[in-house]
Amino acid sequence: MTRPYVFITRKLPDHIVAPIKEIAEVAMWPYDDIQVPRDVLMNEAKKADALLTMVSDVVDEEILEAGKSLKVVANMGVGFDNIDIPAATKHGIAVCNTPDVLTDTTADLTFALLLATARRVVEAAQWIKEGKWKSWSPFLLAGADVHHKTIGIVGMGKIGQAVAKRAAGFDMNILYHNRSRNKEAEQRLGATYCSFDELLEAADFVVCLTPLTKETRHMFNSEAFRKMKRSAIFINASRGAVVDEQALYAALVNGEIAAAGLDVFEHEPIGASHPLLTLTNVVALPHIGSATKETRTKMMELCCRNIIAVLEGKRPETLVNKELER
Ligand code: DGY
Repeated sequence: MTRPYVFITRKLPDHIVAPIKEIAEVAMWPYDDIQVPRDVLMNEAKKADALLTMVSDVVDEEILEAGKSLKVVANMGVGFDNIDIPAATKHGIAVCNTPDVLTDTTADLTFALLLATARRVVEAAQWIKEGKWKSWSPFLLAGADVHHKTIGIVGMGKIGQAVAKRAAGFDMNILYHNRSRNKEAEQRLGATYCSFDELLEAADFVVCLTPLTKETRHMFNSEAFRKMKRSAIFINASRGAVVDEQALYAALVNGEIAAAGLDVFEHEPIGASHPLLTLTNVVALPHIGSATKETRTKMMELCCRNIIAVLEGKRPETLVNKELER
């Protein structure tokens, strides 16, 4: 019997993919820092029983349709907006993601970004390295307090709740907005549910952690930024396209909000000439929410286990399109 064929779209450590090699032939795109070109992904999808993809790979209906033997796409990320889920379900292809293993790591980064933006950490570090420190002065690089302020979390999933837990440690007043109310989380975290508009108007820190869907695309638009306090700090650690970047740029330049901390962008990677990167009140990171060695290793291992499970006819641990089970 021929062994199944698995294609991995980035170079991953051999010892991590070794368990898949016990049951399948494995090919890997040879680079860890260059995205697999679409034509290569298309050709591989045509042959593959399983794909291990990154959140930056577009797995649309054309790719899924071409994958005549494809049984599973294991995506290395909790988000799966890069994959056409209805098309995968239509073709009977399981889609798996990597929730839970990255929750605390992503919440840590989100809170670090909030602190860095509020306290101007990046600007201050740059300042001292450029030899600009001439004397102590009362308002030198003075930022905004975080403790005892109001945080508004948009998207109260597991990562949102983990951010709320960190905010509670800073004695923050916690507001949240979500598609559905979570009374258990409210009690556990001391969080208050409110409408999107109420949150925008009341929060000192507006933190976006909502997944990208048809409904959330550009939900942070000029109208939303106008509703925020002029002193508000906006943090985005979910997906860039939840934000209308032109509207954000205008809001920052016109002083409608005070600052932004961004880990994600509508089109990644962005170049150094991106308008948002020209602003001193923007702290920008290259989509590193879950990027610790420990967590990225766990994400890779989970992808491998999911692929093995599907190829062995078992239930994968973290199936996205659960309708396939019915
Ligand atoms: C995710 O898990 O969706 C992240 O954005 C990838 O690090």
